[in-house]
Amino acid sequence: MQTLFFGTNNPHKLKEIQEILGQSYRVLSFKDLPEPFDVEETEPTIEGNAILKANAFYGKTGMPCFSDDSGLEVDALDGRPGVITARYAGPGCSADDNMDKLLMELDGHANRSAQFRTVIAYFDGQAMHTFEGIIRGKILTARRGTDGFGYDPIFMPDGYAESFAEMPSAVKHKISHRGQALEKFIQYIRK
Ligand code: IMP
Repeated sequence: MQTLFFGTNNPHKLKEIQEILGQSYRVLSFKDLPEPFDVEETEPTIEGNAILKANAFYGKTGMPCFSDDSGLEVDALDGRPGVITARYAGPGCSADDNMDKLLMELDGHANRSAQFRTVIAYFDGQAMHTFEGIIRGKILTARRGTDGFGYDPIFMPDGYAESFAEMPSAVKHKISHRGQALEKFIQYIRK
């Protein structure tokens, strides 16, 4: 079994990534470190924050690390919330606050097209590598489903009749932005 270090404090992402990777990988994260460690996402882009976190983790541990950063990019809002997706409704806001804000902003908009985008950055001790995943879809007019996290109840991927929060997690993982970026990353490390 291969061990990978994932630079995250988010238990949802850790669980999702462990599920996607399956039994042949053991994924450790910041919580497995002897002392608490966090990295503030201060870069203006999704790519920048993924790289920042992978670098910071390497600086802390000296071990190869991968890190991801994702965002929801809404066409009618010129790509917002983008890099501030997690804190769209303000510092300390909940997923519900974020969804409410987005639904309000899109009220009356005919164009509800959007995409989730993930960038995984992997620092192997010598070089930084990045892997991108994108899933296109639509922002619904109201929440549907209770599974998942974040904006899942209001995002319906193109070609599906269910929101991310209504579909089985295995289906979501296969098609999601994170799943796609991770697939590229896995292909790379298996080489
Ligand atoms: P992160 O960089 O992966 O933490 O993503 C930033 C924010 O985007 C999260 O806090 C969520 O609000 C949102 N997000 C990212 N991925 C997903 C997803 O798969 N479903 C719903 N929301 C997501």
